[in-house]
Amino acid sequence: MAAAEIARNAGEGTRSLPLSGHVGFDSMPDQLVNKSVSRGFCFNILCVGETGLGKSTLMDTLFNTKLEGEPTLHNQPSVQLKSHAYELQESSVRLNLTAVDSVGFGDQINKEDSYKPIVEFIDAQFEAYLQEELKIRRTLHSYHDSRIHACLYFIAPTGHSLKSLDLVTMKKLDSKVNIIPVIAKSDAVSKSELAKFKIKISSELVSNGVQIYHFPTDDETVAEINSTMNGHLPFAVVGSTEEVKIGNKMVRARQYPWGTVEVENESHCDFVKLREMLIRVNMEDLREQTHTRHYELYRRCKLEEMGFQDTDPESKPFSLQETYEAKRNEFLGELQRQEEEMRQMFVQRVKEKEAELKEAEKELHEKFDRLKKLHQDEKKKLEEKKKILEDELNSFKQKKTATELLQSQSQSTGGSTTLKKDKERKNFF
Ligand code: GTP
Ligand code: MG
Repeated sequence: MAAAEIARNAGEGTRSLPLSGHVGFDSMPDQLVNKSVSRGFCFNILCVGETGLGKSTLMDTLFNTKLEGEPTLHNQPSVQLKSHAYELQESSVRLNLTAVDSVGFGDQINKEDSYKPIVEFIDAQFEAYLQEELKIRRTLHSYHDSRIHACLYFIAPTGHSLKSLDLVTMKKLDSKVNIIPVIAKSDAVSKSELAKFKIKISSELVSNGVQIYHFPTDDETVAEINSTMNGHLPFAVVGSTEEVKIGNKMVRARQYPWGTVEVENESHCDFVKLREMLIRVNMEDLREQTHTRHYELYRRCKLEEMGFQDTDPESKPFSLQETYEAKRNEFLGELQRQEEEMRQMFVQRVKEKEAELKEAEKELHEKFDRLKKLHQDEKKKLEEKKKILEDELNSFKQKKTATELLQSQSQSTGGSTTLKKDKERKNFF
C-alpha cells in the first residue's frame, strides 16, 4: 500500500465497521488489569510538617500498619529528607509504598531555607527518572520510580492562620508535587473554630496563589464525590493506632478524660475522607498528574535549559537531530573561536617577548660600547703614564751614566781612599 494511502486510512478517513462475530479485543481492559496487578503498583508519599504534628501517626493510621517513624530530635541544623520503602499487599494487589519524611522541618531559628532540601529532593527524583528516560538502553518498565506522587502538608492546629513558613513552602512546592494540605491534630480545635480555620486557610492559599491538588472532576464516575470532597479541603485529621472498644467493636481512637475521638468517625474528623480520596479514589490520578503535569514541567524546563527545542525561531518543527546538529555546530564554532583567540594571544605574547628581548639586546650593546670606550680611555691614560715613566727612566739613566763618568774621572785622580765609598755607591744603584 502506498504511503499516502496509509496516511489517509490512519487519518480522518477512518471507517467505522460493524463486527460480524466475537473477535476478542474486548478483553483489553482485563489484559491491562492483569498486567498491572502482576507488576504491582508504586506510590510515593511525602509528609511535610513541623516536628511532632503527628505525621508518623497519620501514616500508620492511613496504611493500617506500623511504618518506620521514630520521633526526631528538635535540634537538627537543617531539614533532612528520609525515605523508607515498603511492600504492602491487599487482596492480590501489591503496593510498593515509599514514605518520605521531612525531618527537622520548622526546627531551625532561621527557617528561610527550610523548603530548599524538599525542593531539591523532589527534583532529584525527577532528574533520576529523566536520566533513565534519556538512556540508550532504558529499563523504564523495571525502573523503581521514586517521584513523589502526593505531598501531605501538615498544618498546625492553631485555629488562626497559616504560618509564613507554610505559605512559602507550599508555594515553592506547588509546581512540583500534588499538595494535599491537612490540619493536623484537629482534635485540638473545636468544631466551629475548625470551620472558620478551614475557610481562612483556603482563602489564604488562594490569595497567595498556592495551587493545591484538587480531586479531578472530569471522570464522571468519581466527579460527584470528588467535587464534594474538594469543598471539604483542607481535611482536618486525627491519627491514632490505639484501639478502643466502642459498643461491641474495636475502633482506632484517641481517648481523653472527657471522651473519645474516633479516627474513622466522620463526625469526629476527616480522616476517612482523606483515606478515601488519597488511596481508594484518586491514587491513580495522583500518579498520573505527577507524570503528566509535574514531571512534564521539570522535563521541559530541563531540556530547554540543555538547548533542546521543538520549533525553530520561525515556529517550524525542529527535530532532535537538528537540535543536535545546531548544538554541535555551535560548539564547534565556539571551539574554533576560542582556538583563534588563543592563537592570537600567543602571537601577541611572542611579539611582546620579542620586543622585550630586542630592547634588552640594545641595552646590552649600549652598555658594551660604554664599557669599551671606558676601557680605551683607561688604556690611553695608562699608555701616557707609561710614556712619562719611560721618559723619566731614560733621563735618570742618562744622569746616572753622567755621574758614573764623573766618578771614574775623580777616582783616577783621588787615590784608593775613596775606593770603598765608590763600591757602596755602586751597590746602591
Ligand atoms: P516527628 O517525626 O518527631 O516530626 O513527629 P511526627 O510529626 O511524626 O509526630 P508523631 O506521629 O510522632 O506524633 C507526635 C505526638 O503527637 C505523639 O504523642 C502522638 O501520639 C501525638 N499525636 C499524633 N496524632 C495526633 C492527633 O491527631 N491528635 C493529637 N492530639 N495528638 C496526636
Ligand atoms: Mg515522625
